[in-house]
Amino acid sequence: MSTENLLAPIKSFLKCETPQAWIDKAKQSENLPVLLTDHLICELKAAQTAMWLIRNYAVDKSSGQVLLEWLQPYEKYIYRKEGDLETLSQKLKFSKAILPKSNSLIGQDVIDKMVLLIKEELHHFYQVLEIMNARNIPYDNITAGRYAKGMMTNIRTHEPAILIDKLICGAYIEARSCERFAKIAPHLDDELNKFYVSLLRSEARHFQDYLSLAELIAGEDISDRIQFFGEIEAQLISTPDEDFKFHSGVPI
Ligand SMILES: [Fe+2]
Ligand SMILES: [Fe+2]
Repeated sequence: MSTENLLAPIKSFLKCETPQAWIDKAKQSENLPVLLTDHLICELKAAQTAMWLIRNYAVDKSSGQVLLEWLQPYEKYIYRKEGDLETLSQKLKFSKAILPKSNSLIGQDVIDKMVLLIKEELHHFYQVLEIMNARNIPYDNITAGRYAKGMMTNIRTHEPAILIDKLICGAYIEARSCERFAKIAPHLDDELNKFYVSLLRSEARHFQDYLSLAELIAGEDISDRIQFFGEIEAQLISTPDEDFKFHSGVPI
């Protein structure tokens, strides 16, 4: 599938395009360390979100434990600066069986999709870290921007609405990441350009995974909720934001 075809559903899902001012800021080489660092943390958060979802709603207890252990070295790296590429690479090969708990609404097929998603996010994490290391960009934990929180604070407070809303937010985060990778890629050097284009395919699929899971759980039309979060998302992207990050608004 061509990049244009991959991006078409994403562009129609998102209610605005990335503003030019963000692209202009992101392509300046002095901003590359913060862009890559934030990207690295976003990959971990993406893995954590997917894992949280299946641990809470879908898998049995021992599978939940296996999932936690899988993520641990990545969390240690980000929160405690422990470990390195070598220790992380051992956790890239994940092949344990993750099984649904009894009476789960979410079946094995969805679990398999989410486990694949986690695997891909952790692989992306590893790839970003490899690039940072090769360029002597040190990893320093940075604070989160306003973006994800700006959406999450609008999540309803009862089930299954909580789950449905979280999945819709997940779909927006994946879709925006995909759109931004495509926007910034042509302005970066060869290696980063290729890397960001290579990410489009999986992120485009992740957006669809979240959206179809939200529709499956709801069992009814959720277009009003999609519209609701779409407007919040577009506002976070198109209004002034002094904290430059991967998902920030218009730089000031
Ligand atoms: Fe990713
Ligand atoms: Fe993703």
